[in-house]
Amino acid sequence: MSDILVKRDGAVQEIRFNRPAKKNAITNSMYGVMADAITEAEQSDDIRVVLFTAEGDFFSAGNDLMDFASQSSGAFSGPREVGRFLDVMIKAKKPIVAAVQGNGVGVGTTMLFHCDLVYIAETAKLTTPFIDLGLVPENASSLTIVARLGYVRAFALLGANEPLFGKDAAAWGVANAALPAAEIEPRARAAAHALANKPAEALKLTKGLMRDPETLITRMLQEGEIFGERLKSPEAAAAFAAFLGRK
Ligand code: COA
Repeated sequence: MSDILVKRDGAVQEIRFNRPAKKNAITNSMYGVMADAITEAEQSDDIRVVLFTAEGDFFSAGNDLMDFASQSSGAFSGPREVGRFLDVMIKAKKPIVAAVQGNGVGVGTTMLFHCDLVYIAETAKLTTPFIDLGLVPENASSLTIVARLGYVRAFALLGANEPLFGKDAAAWGVANAALPAAEIEPRARAAAHALANKPAEALKLTKGLMRDPETLITRMLQEGEIFGERLKSPEAAAAFAAFLGRK
């Protein structure tokens, strides 16, 4: 079974994290599959909305740390698909809905700031342990999270890695609603289909007016340069080794 399932349900393109045994940590190839699925949605007249869902108790534990470790040591060669995924998600003209039934870590949190509707479990925790890993924020989150939460709340999340709980996520404008975990997927699915039934051109134009992808891409690339250097830093190498050697 694939670690990312892509399924069409009417005009909704569902992208489902399907690596529950690894808490839906995202590998390089999973980023590639997700980037392809969003690109397909953007290009197809039959697809009007993208819906993210996840299998298991985690939404996503973020970037796979084995992948980070091999990128850190220089063992990894080939294209880093994460860049393509972040790029298509930020530039997406069609709406993106997320069903966050469990915890989000790293990009599992920062990607939510590029979604248009987010439903989150009351019990879910969102964290961004970039500093603890010797890294810096990515995915334009140094901009999106500050804009959405205000500086001190953003710094608690990005700088101190304090968790953001589901109910606060809804109260602070990160999510539309915090609900019992079992209700998340049906609610998000219904919202995605409701959007898919709206006039598609008007919807796309409205999203375009409400978002500023150019600014976000510029910040994402700035962060990416520093992030790439930090991946090779002794601080990051030590953090990856500690995680991989912890059992
Ligand atoms: N990359 C690779 N594997 C991961 C992972 C990640 N980001 N997150 C979890 N896993 C794997 C674990 O190694 C473990 O694999 P194993 O059973 O083969 O040993 C499995 O998923 C279950 O994780 P475990 O740590 O046993 O579960 P937990 O409930 O105790 O903790 C987390 C879950 C997510 C809190 C913890 O695994 C963690 O901190 N992961 C790293 C998250 C992270 O730093 N992501 C990068 C952000 S930039």
